[in-house]
Amino acid sequence: MSRETNAMLKPDFSDRTVVVIGGTSGINRGIAEYFAAAGASVAVASRSQDKVDDTVAALKASGAAQAMGTAFDVRDAPEVSAGLAGFHAALGDFDVLVSGAAGNFPALTARMSANAFRSVIDIDLLGTAHVMQAAYPFLRRPGASVINISAPQSYLAMEGQAHVCAAKAGVDQITRTLALEWGGEGIRVNSVVPGFIEGTEGTERLAPTPQIRQAIVDDIPLGRMGTTRDMGNMCLFLGSDMAAYVSGAVIPVDGALSERGAGWLGKQMGDMLRAMPQPGGD
Ligand code: NAP
Ligand code: COA
Repeated sequence: MSRETNAMLKPDFSDRTVVVIGGTSGINRGIAEYFAAAGASVAVASRSQDKVDDTVAALKASGAAQAMGTAFDVRDAPEVSAGLAGFHAALGDFDVLVSGAAGNFPALTARMSANAFRSVIDIDLLGTAHVMQAAYPFLRRPGASVINISAPQSYLAMEGQAHVCAAKAGVDQITRTLALEWGGEGIRVNSVVPGFIEGTEGTERLAPTPQIRQAIVDDIPLGRMGTTRDMGNMCLFLGSDMAAYVSGAVIPVDGALSERGAGWLGKQMGDMLRAMPQPGGD
């Protein structure tokens, strides 16, 4: 494809407002920077004010029409509401909302505390619900595109990941249900499911050694890990009018890895975790 054709396909977001929750590192920050490079006004939020400040500076450098950010924890519904109200007051109705704040660690269900399980449900699932509820009054209607960042654990059982499997399955059911509830107002709601995205915290936690990473790459039909650019391209598409008839979809961006199931990786992780000394054991 020529550069010219490629440029023609890249949507212009210069009159659009894009909000990215959990947008201060990894995949979500990559998505925020991608929208900034397309000229959008972009707002980001996460727990760390330092990460927010660093990201806002990067968004301005990337070409955002306007960039702003605020620190809050998605587990705190009133904080989320106040934060999103601030974004709306400054930037107007949201054309695109990306909700991707999440936490993950590998742990066997029987060996993690109730609070450990709850922390991932609180961040990923309840956090998504808080963001959806708080954003609803500020979404452009008609025309808003809501994108929830999910994970293959939503539909693939994986040892050491029951907390994430449960949370992300819930996230995708929120996506599908809101596509029904909000469709009549012209609001589209979709999930994007990253596979292994290189250089990110999620990949670092689930594939901590070069050997495991290589084995994963060998298993990916397209022969490589994904990039934040791959994720940005999908989100730009979903955020644009090119996706005007796409809603309620759960879309993998994973090089077809999900089609192999999670058997090999899950077994590997389960064996590794079972071999570890049990907390409090002798
Ligand atoms: P990451 O760099 O750790 O990004 C997580 C983001 O969420 C950060 O900005 C973090 O910032 C924020 N966050 C975490 N807890 C929060 C909370 N309680 N309240 C507000 N913000 C919070 O991870 P990543 O690997 O790029 O993952 C990004 C998304 O992609 C997640 O939804 C993840 O489940 C999904 N995913 C990733 C992969 C992968 O290959 N990496 C694969 C499948 C799915 P603070 O620390 O400042 O809060
Ligand atoms: N194995 C077992 N339990 C673990 C764990 C691990 N690897 N890591 C944390 N926990 C437990 C803690 O011990 C605690 O349980 P306890 O109170 O019974 O001791 C519980 O999980 C909460 O941990 P805490 O560190 O207090 O929570 P937090 O709110 O500060 O952090 C996490 C949330 C645990 C999800 C943290 O990993 C995080 O902030 N993650 C964000 C980044 C990330 O995960 N990126 C990848 C995205 S896919």
